[in-house]
Amino acid sequence: MSKNYQQVALVTGAARGIGEATVERFVEEGINVVATDILPEIRHLKKANVIFLTHDVSKAESWASILGDVKNQFGRLDILVNNAGIGTLPDVEEEEERGWMEMLDTNAKSIWLGIKAVVPLMRSNKSGSIVNVSSIFGASGGFGKSAAYHASKGVVSAVTRNAAIRYAPENIRVNAVSPGFVKVAREEKTIEKAGDEMSQEILFRTPMKRWAEPSEIASTINFLAGKDATYITGVELFVDGGWMAT
Ligand SMILES: NC(=O)c1ccc[n+]([C@@H]2O[C@H](COP(=O)([O-])OP(=O)(O)OC[C@H]3O[C@@H](n4cnc5c(N)ncnc54)[C@H](O)[C@@H]3O)[C@@H](O)[C@H]2O)c1
Repeated sequence: MSKNYQQVALVTGAARGIGEATVERFVEEGINVVATDILPEIRHLKKANVIFLTHDVSKAESWASILGDVKNQFGRLDILVNNAGIGTLPDVEEEEERGWMEMLDTNAKSIWLGIKAVVPLMRSNKSGSIVNVSSIFGASGGFGKSAAYHASKGVVSAVTRNAAIRYAPENIRVNAVSPGFVKVAREEKTIEKAGDEMSQEILFRTPMKRWAEPSEIASTINFLAGKDATYITGVELFVDGGWMAT
């Protein structure tokens, strides 16, 4: 555990769900964590080794401010987890321009901004690992709903592969974790809105017949981010109970 103590990770969307579970896992691994979210505070993560900063991932100036703080505090960054994201239900015809733009800014533009912001600091250390949280919906048509969400996650997966090629010679790895259905409050609210039928359909179509725990996504993020994955770059790892195999 102590071998990782000096490492510094930045995790976005860390106030709850997968981000929160990732921070908890990194803390267990002895990694120093800068946990950020658009929400003004993180309730559960008041731990040594965790600094919380307010951050809007869709804004370049917000990334500049966060990176300034990371440099001042630690002078290095080993890991970025681009996790923050939103989800909505409208299909192609129901979606409106405003919703489409908000989704693409929050889920897709943010990934580009994040990589762009951290690479100079990683380059100065001659190493780095970036894990982008995409989704099975970036690679499949799902239920024919959530058109903007599907589009945004398609971008996340594509940028992951592109940036992996660009930064491989500089020892900066870029990978994606694509979860299936994860038991988090946001997902429950979305399913609630969509109705019980969708919830039954999810279980019916998921070969393992259950939802993922946030910690099961966090453990995969930790694997790709860390020392057991040093020859892996440009992959999208589905953590989906078998969904993509069907
Ligand atoms: N839960 C699932 O089933 C599931 C499945 C596939 C992919 N994902 C992806 O996992 C990631 C985490 O989602 P989650 O399920 O933990 O959801 P969540 O809503 O519990 O957590 C997302 C966090 O992101 C934050 N956030 C939203 N907009 C932000 C912004 N502009 N700047 C900074 N922070 C912002 C929210 O405040 C929230 O704390 C997302 O990218 C999501 O698309 C989730």
